[in-house]
Amino acid sequence: MDKERESFAGRFSVIMAFAGSAIGLGNIWRFPYMVGQYGGAAFVLIYIIASLFLSLPIFLSESVIGRSARSNAFGAMSVLAPKSRVWKSFGYLFILTPMIVVSYYSVIGGWSLDYLCKACTLGFVRTDAANINEIFGNFISTPWKPLLFHVLFLSISILIVFLGVKTGIEKFSKISIPLLFAMIVVITVYSLSLPGAREGVEYLVKPDFSKVTPATFSYALGQSFYSLSLGMGIIITYSSYVSKKENILVTGFGTAVSDLLFAILASFAIMPAVFSVGIEPNAGPGLIFRTLPFIFSKMGESLPYISSLVAVIFFLTVLVAALTSSISLLEVGVAYLIEEKHLSRKTACLVVYLSTGVLGMLSSLSFGPLSGVRILGKPVFDFLDAFSSNILMTAGALAAVIFVGWKMNKKVVRDELTNGGSLKMNSGLFGVVYFLIKYAAPLAVIAILISDFIG
Ligand code: PHE
Repeated sequence: MDKERESFAGRFSVIMAFAGSAIGLGNIWRFPYMVGQYGGAAFVLIYIIASLFLSLPIFLSESVIGRSARSNAFGAMSVLAPKSRVWKSFGYLFILTPMIVVSYYSVIGGWSLDYLCKACTLGFVRTDAANINEIFGNFISTPWKPLLFHVLFLSISILIVFLGVKTGIEKFSKISIPLLFAMIVVITVYSLSLPGAREGVEYLVKPDFSKVTPATFSYALGQSFYSLSLGMGIIITYSSYVSKKENILVTGFGTAVSDLLFAILASFAIMPAVFSVGIEPNAGPGLIFRTLPFIFSKMGESLPYISSLVAVIFFLTVLVAALTSSISLLEVGVAYLIEEKHLSRKTACLVVYLSTGVLGMLSSLSFGPLSGVRILGKPVFDFLDAFSSNILMTAGALAAVIFVGWKMNKKVVRDELTNGGSLKMNSGLFGVVYFLIKYAAPLAVIAILISDFIG
């Protein structure tokens, strides 16, 4: 089986694939706002510490599982803990969670595709800025258009996955990630040149320790967690395509740095523009589909072509960032069906496409005709989002660190992290990394779980 397994070509390819999963909507619509709200540079510092000492060890745990088992996320648990039913059930969790997440992630991906089309047809300069909210409200509550774009987005994603690990995922990531960085730099330069941009920069950089509370730590950790795509079998699956020669400490670190760099650039691309038109910063879909189009239409009053060009680059960035994340989510289920159920890649893609497509339709319709359908008091989209991010992903991350820290043989973990002792620096760091995996990370994840429950 090992011989048939595809693998990524080298270090650059590995980091690009991981970064593709990591860089997504979270970097664009949540991180910039969090920085401003929770203390500027002080928050960034806390975020870096949380990423380095807690999220990265979880990432490495998943890498250890995936690369040592060289199997899909479910199979890995069966390979490494063959007799345990409990670990096997976590294997199912690793497959289920990304399937749920991609179903509604794709709905937002569809919206960004529609907004890219709007930007291309000068849609934002042709409207009155005051109508932007109405346009968005009408768009998401009509049944057909968002459904169509959800299906379109999912179709593009599954097509890339269908092309395979090397010709699909690796190639696409190697082109998209540099492109994403180039595009976000262009928007940042433009945004910083706007009159009044300074206030936005201050909002981001001024360290304000008075805004740092105990909750800030949990928000920072939660965000870095989500941003690195932890707890859902993605890192396990992708790591199973990483060659035994690769240094996984370096690829993990490279991924975390790229992810952070992109998030910081996105902050400087967005907030100065928000402040230059004098509106309140916000986060989530409202930021991307209301606030930014408002800015584009305001700027369009004097510079219609430049503002439309920036709008096109911006929505293309959102779209590509969402695509690279969604392919990583889809690959988890596809790899499972190929290896465990012996389906061809084509059939596996079809099964994953249809099941996540239909589930996503329910999410999409929950903004319109199905808005009355509630699960535990929430519309379908909100319920799936909260349930998977707060409970399933956190449980998955906890399972990964406990598995590596407490269940796996320490020698196997050491061999995996040091390539059998041949990497001298890793051998020196092993004690610290192992401590973080065994004690610090599980405690931090438990703290997040508890705060999700009481919060
Ligand atoms: N990491 C992605 C982001 O920041 C989101 C994501 C989460 C993607 C989990 C895949 C899995 O948007």
